[in-house]
Amino acid sequence: MSRYWSEVVRRLTPYVPGEQPKLARLVKLNTNENPYGPSPRVLEALRAEAADSLRLYPDPGSDKLREAIAAFHGVQANEVFVGNGSDEVLAHAFLALLKHDTPILFPDISYSFYPVYCGLYEIEYQEVPLTDAFEIRVDDYFVPNGGIIFPNPNAPTARLLALGEVERLLARNTESVVVVDEAYIDFGGESAVGLVKKYPQLLVVHTLSKSHSLAGLRVGYAIGQEELIQALVRVKDSFNSYPLDRFAQAGAIASMQDRAYFDETRHKVMATRERLVADLTALDFEVLPSAANFVFARHPRKAGADLAQALRERSIIVRHFNKPARIEPFLRITVGTDEQCRMLMTALRELLA
Ligand SMILES: Cc1ncc(COP(=O)(O)O)c(C=O)c1O
Repeated sequence: MSRYWSEVVRRLTPYVPGEQPKLARLVKLNTNENPYGPSPRVLEALRAEAADSLRLYPDPGSDKLREAIAAFHGVQANEVFVGNGSDEVLAHAFLALLKHDTPILFPDISYSFYPVYCGLYEIEYQEVPLTDAFEIRVDDYFVPNGGIIFPNPNAPTARLLALGEVERLLARNTESVVVVDEAYIDFGGESAVGLVKKYPQLLVVHTLSKSHSLAGLRVGYAIGQEELIQALVRVKDSFNSYPLDRFAQAGAIASMQDRAYFDETRHKVMATRERLVADLTALDFEVLPSAANFVFARHPRKAGADLAQALRERSIIVRHFNKPARIEPFLRITVGTDEQCRMLMTALRELLA
């Protein structure tokens, strides 16, 4: 704390990202990265971009990338907004579309960045409790609100809300924006992008960090009707005209165009997830149904914090949240390669023997 800090900065409670350890040879299952590298076509595009043209600013509108994303999803480029990771896209959505007089709604167990953005932009919010089975109950959101946001699948629970339920919410909640944060949708869910044409209040947010193996490149995007997109562009152009550098634009275009690689790797992750769930269940873990590239699991006899610590001592890192109390017993485990999951299971069998 310094006397030079602004009032807003004094009041902030910043987000704490998952650890990026400096040690090599760790089994890193703590931040939901993809265990496979990006498409070889991405690496080729990045190499080609390392050129004299770096002296020039990148395209401020990322037009070619927005066209590639539009082609991927079968929408128009003017229905696409891109940002420096979906965190930035979400931040702009909070300021552009969710800051009103009435509190916004999101689940009580959800992406822990949402309350941080509310703090930053001074947006009031109400947390809506998940059910005892950690599900979003759409009927609980049928109350006056300044906007609604939730991840689907939810994080850190990994549970999916069926597309029919998302549509039921949209059909009823027409007076405020609904942001569906689909960071993990490619690992087993059905995207709400197809509903954008029908619902002008819907904004769907995606990231290339997970299913495109590009967490290091920082690219995310939103799809919505043009009026919503224009609101995001107004914020972006009042903040940073060039959020995506030349590498990010070139690499992301190549990734969106290599659908075969995208499908191959996400299916590998899903197949490994099913084996991991079976192995954890055989060790008595309760594993919530997962449609993501991670699982959320608790053991009836061992505290989450203790297990996370014991795994860490064996160079395996998973994520443990000590708040809220309801999720304290759980571990959030990213689906790694088959080999990484095998090492995790060997360690867990020893710890629980
Ligand atoms: C639900 C959810 N939304 C958004 C993000 C942000 O992803 P990125 O900023 O890497 O695109 C994450 C990252 O873990 C997430 O879990």
